[in-house]
Amino acid sequence: MAEIPVFDSEAVLASVPAAAAIERTRVAFERHAAGDWAMPAKVYLDAPPNGDFRAMPARGGGLATLKWVTSFPRNRERGLPVVTGALLVSSAETGELLALLDCAAVTSLRTGAAAALSAQVLARADARSVGVIGCGVNGAWAARCMAAAGYGPGICADARPQAAEALAAELGWESGPRDRAAAQDVVVTVTPADQPVIGLEDLRAGQHFAVLGADVHGKAEVALDALSRCRLFCDEWEQASKGGELAGAVSSGLVAHGDVTEIGEVLLGHSPGRTADEEITLFDSTGLAIQDLAIAAGVLESWRAGRLPAPMASL
Ligand SMILES: NC(=O)c1ccc[n+]([C@@H]2O[C@H](COP(=O)([O-])OP(=O)(O)OC[C@H]3O[C@@H](n4cnc5c(N)ncnc54)[C@H](O)[C@@H]3O)[C@@H](O)[C@H]2O)c1
Repeated sequence: MAEIPVFDSEAVLASVPAAAAIERTRVAFERHAAGDWAMPAKVYLDAPPNGDFRAMPARGGGLATLKWVTSFPRNRERGLPVVTGALLVSSAETGELLALLDCAAVTSLRTGAAAALSAQVLARADARSVGVIGCGVNGAWAARCMAAAGYGPGICADARPQAAEALAAELGWESGPRDRAAAQDVVVTVTPADQPVIGLEDLRAGQHFAVLGADVHGKAEVALDALSRCRLFCDEWEQASKGGELAGAVSSGLVAHGDVTEIGEVLLGHSPGRTADEEITLFDSTGLAIQDLAIAAGVLESWRAGRLPAPMASL
């Protein structure tokens, strides 16, 4: 019988602070780009009309992980979480199951960390101010990670003003209208992406956009004419071109593979990042299984070092 630790949301967040999540996310992108970490394509299992399940496997650093996670948008009306599920961690040496983690906390941490990492890698060196459009669960973590990376102050904007106000109060930032948020040095969008929240008129020379909300085909947060004006980066071409912000531009022939650089290639020095101060950079983050793996490894390390108590489950 296997005895494994179970980490709830609080335990995950307590064991990997935002700054560590950013560093771990950086390593994940590097190791994946170097071919050391493996990640088969994520599998979508539709559950019409309610939403879909996603199975996201990855292997690296002696571990293998599988995230089983939902996107059930109608759950909001039922008072249930839109994103829910679990992440299994196994040994890549013996195949033994090592841990079970709450997946929403892992997702929020790694999603926010990717936004902050993209700013560190692609924003202008003098970029400081932040606009966050969409201050829900993952928008709030993106803002916390941006703050942990030294960015801010920022403007928080949300269709629900109280969400923007609460986040702004937590970070000592300001809440404001969408167009003010869209005018900052680094703009992070984390809405359900059912309509563009960035138009051509919002773009300013030198800005960096971290676009996180579109994680399935058919969703988009940036109008196509605005997207075409940006230097384009993504977490992984396969995933971003099929199910991310870039998917619409790719299927309409506006953007091809050669127009988009994976961030791991920039981190390894294989491709240039920003090449001029006036350039507008856009990072399409669709959320990768290697990012989940990086955070899960941090949780397990904390527990093994005795820094984190966790209940045990027998299977
Ligand atoms: N890229 C990734 O890795 C990744 C990870 C997790 C979630 N997501 C995606 O990010 C999006 C947000 O997820 P979440 O869990 O934070 O959802 P959420 O419901 O907690 O938050 C979304 C927020 O956006 C606000 N909003 C909606 N439309 C808006 C608009 N037009 N302008 C301003 N604000 C608006 C809502 O009021 C809400 O506060 C979803 O589409 C989700 O699928 C992406």
